[in-house]
Amino acid sequence: MKKVLLLCGSPRPEGNTAQVIRECAKVIADHGVEAETVSLAGTVIESCIACRTCAANGMCIIEDGLNEIIEKLRESDGFIVGSPVYFGTARGDVMAALQRIGMVSMASDNFLSRKVGGPIAVARRGGHTATIQEMLMFFLINDMIVPGSIYWNIVFGKEPGEAVRDEEGMRTVRRFAENVAFLVKRLD
Ligand SMILES: Cc1cc2nc3c(=O)[nH]c(=O)nc-3n(C[C@H](O)[C@H](O)[C@H](O)COP(=O)(O)O)c2cc1C
Repeated sequence: MKKVLLLCGSPRPEGNTAQVIRECAKVIADHGVEAETVSLAGTVIESCIACRTCAANGMCIIEDGLNEIIEKLRESDGFIVGSPVYFGTARGDVMAALQRIGMVSMASDNFLSRKVGGPIAVARRGGHTATIQEMLMFFLINDMIVPGSIYWNIVFGKEPGEAVRDEEGMRTVRRFAENVAFLVKRLD
């Protein structure tokens, strides 16, 4: 069975990003693709220290839980990343995770190559598109395939529960999740 890994980058386990990612996981499962979600809530993800140890063993030397996520990602066909917007950009831990995941892939066996996915940005009011663009840099340099949707993958909400009431935002990310499932089922 094809599988999509979804990463929730918010520190709030029941926050807006978590609720948006949960809905995407449901859409993917409804389309006959396994959906597993991992969360950065309760973790602290350090930045890449450019040691290049990963070139030798395909793992990150920093032991903060990211290697477990990398293992799940290796077994997945798709990868969706949701981040809250912090001061107009993605949350720091999200970019730290993406940079280390990308470095491990690039320095070892390019395991990200041709995985299907993309970013989702969740915020109260502004900075969504810059955040999407920032996260896209990870997908596009790692030989990944990013489908579109009916709008950019941005959802509006401040207090937990508000984002899922953004009807257009949710319609957009549901279609995006559908497109990810559609593509992984067709790629071999
Ligand atoms: C440090 C910090 C910075 C924030 N910066 C922005 C911002 O630049 N633009 C915005 O619209 N919302 C901003 N917010 C609000 C969050 O993006 C918003 O509450 C979002 O729903 C949080 O997602 P979560 O519930 O998944 O944690 C910020 C929140 C925090 C904690």
